[in-house]
Amino acid sequence: MADTRTITLSINGRARELEVAVHHTLLEVLREAVDLTGTKECCVVGECGACTVLVDGRSVNSCLMLAVEADNTAVTTVEGLAVDGELSALQEAFLDQSAAQCGFCIPGQLISATALLDQIDDPSDEQIQEALAGTLCRCAGYEQIFAAVRQAAQEKRDGAGEQTL
Ligand code: FES
Repeated sequence: MADTRTITLSINGRARELEVAVHHTLLEVLREAVDLTGTKECCVVGECGACTVLVDGRSVNSCLMLAVEADNTAVTTVEGLAVDGELSALQEAFLDQSAAQCGFCIPGQLISATALLDQIDDPSDEQIQEALAGTLCRCAGYEQIFAAVRQAAQEKRDGAGEQTL
């Protein structure tokens, strides 16, 4: 029988207590135990970024992190970006820019870009490229993805300006 541990964490703002096998990755637990299948499983060796989630605000390849290592953290998956059914500004920008082609990489792209925009209000093209470099798009739709990130950043700055008026 597999060795298990009980972990406590917040997933998309909801406190969870889970009994997990010590060898299971965060990706496996999110997809199989919690049924959050927006986080994609692809290479499982840290090369494609399809499995990217936020752990305490930092983007992480969930295929490389054991679930027990996520004990006492806050995890955000793509399902957690919309609030009360309202897409985030970044998700709306992806729609506006037709940034999703086959769509498989988009959860990872959204999470990586969310981490970037949480840190930097006005990212340069180089900073966007660097932030998304670990998340591969097989459709090569990078121009639309970068345009969506630029749009969301601009809207965020415009919104912040309005609030201070
Ligand atoms: Fe984790 Fe590819 S599935 S990086």
